[in-house]
Amino acid sequence: DKPMLVAGNWKMNGLQAALAEVEAIARAADGAPSRVEVAVAPPFTLIARAKDAAAGSRLRIGGQDCHANPSGAHTGCISATMLADLGCDFAIVGHSERRTDNGETDAIVKAKATAAIGAGLRAILCVGETEAERDAGRHLDVVGAQLVGSLPDADPASVVIAYEPVWAIGTGRTPRASDVDEMHSAIRARLVARYGEEGRGILILYGGSVKPSNAAELFAVPEVGGALVGGASLKAADFLPIIAAA
Ligand code: 13P
Repeated sequence: DKPMLVAGNWKMNGLQAALAEVEAIARAADGAPSRVEVAVAPPFTLIARAKDAAAGSRLRIGGQDCHANPSGAHTGCISATMLADLGCDFAIVGHSERRTDNGETDAIVKAKATAAIGAGLRAILCVGETEAERDAGRHLDVVGAQLVGSLPDADPASVVIAYEPVWAIGTGRTPRASDVDEMHSAIRARLVARYGEEGRGILILYGGSVKPSNAAELFAVPEVGGALVGGASLKAADFLPIIAAA
């Protein structure tokens, strides 16, 4: 009976025809219990129309990234202010694909999270270890260092964490529930150390190969406050059973 956030990250997927999926997900968001919040981050090109498709529903729309500055000479970038202007509710920051593809450091991720919160959005801040780091037994240290380097100093009420082990993203592999429990408990301890009692209310999502078949087991882990779902969020037929499992 805990508060949950089930968020879809569409990554670089989705043409206009996919707005029908947004409509179906919006209906499911309205059917979910009030403690379960549903969100989708479509590509920037679809955000305005996704907002229209979700109008009047409880479905939240957000961006997959934002720039740290509100405006300026940054060709091809989108600011948190622009997302807020469209009625977005959140921005994902620090996704491992952006850390890898775009060389984003913890300091950059922190600046983006700070910008998102400053624009009135929630920041869904992603952390996670690589397979080599886990094999070396360094996963807790790696994620801890990412948190130290990227957690914003701003209002913790607007922070959401997504733990996404890099080796679980798009691979069909997931950590054991006991491994998720270990990591989420360690993240919680860091959040409380950083923000005090307010750190207890921060949702910690799990992400990486979440599917209808494994969602219930992952959601049952005490410190799991929802999911950040990639591939299985693209089709309502896959995403709805995950929402229902929350
Ligand atoms: P998949 O659910 O496709 O593994 O992606 C997870 C993810 O990276 C969500 O941000």
